[in-house]
Amino acid sequence: MSHSITNAKPSHDQAFLRVIAIDGPAGAGKSSVSKGLAKAIGFIRLDTGALYRAIGLAALRAGVEAKESEGLTQLLARLDLSLQGETIMLNGQAETDSLRAPEVSRAASDFATLPSVRAKLLDLQRMIGQSAPCIVDGRDIGTVVFPNAPLKIYLTASADARAERRLAELKQQGVEADFQQTRAEIVLRDQQDQNREIAPLKCADDAQVVDATELSLIEVIEACSQLAFGVSGLVNR
Ligand code: CDP
Repeated sequence: MSHSITNAKPSHDQAFLRVIAIDGPAGAGKSSVSKGLAKAIGFIRLDTGALYRAIGLAALRAGVEAKESEGLTQLLARLDLSLQGETIMLNGQAETDSLRAPEVSRAASDFATLPSVRAKLLDLQRMIGQSAPCIVDGRDIGTVVFPNAPLKIYLTASADARAERRLAELKQQGVEADFQQTRAEIVLRDQQDQNREIAPLKCADDAQVVDATELSLIEVIEACSQLAFGVSGLVNR
């Protein structure tokens, strides 16, 4: 599958949408759960946070500030962002670990507050979500991107548990980080994500809440699979 942001057009097909929306705060385990769940039920996965991270990374590299400006308009107009399978391609180059650096997390959250950035990514997300049975994870998937998703999951966990997980992820990439600092950054990003004007992080009224604080990854994937199999016509058996 290859999708380019430049030719993204949402389809207006009203057929049953086979999308599972997973939203929740930073570090709740959305990425690992989405990957595991996608494998378990044969769906593709769209990590929308990676798209915001790619814009944050492109802006950091270009020295563009996180505010609406001519510089940002030009950056977005020239942005060569696409997906090869699940890999983000920025200007023809695959980006993986570079997207997960702490300064890129901050930049993603800063740029995600801006209307022009969110508008740029909306059609792309909708087009991919409609192209195949898909697990889409982010902050506003059940509320804004796919408000008619047949299953919405709000995945959360305590700030301590989320900071532990983020620390382990960074360590795996060879990045040493401090627990208190990692926790503080996560809490700050949650506040910014929850309090921004457009598409803030919030639990959709019709979402199923899964609290992962005391659960292992396998247990969370199992709980989410049960929810998916419980929706008629969503998963092929
Ligand atoms: O992996 P983690 O939960 O730390 O973050 P992420 O899902 O990669 O998202 C990075 C940032 O992108 C978030 O802090 C949000 O500010 C922004 N984002 C968003 O605004 N809307 C989405 N659908 C996904 C991410």
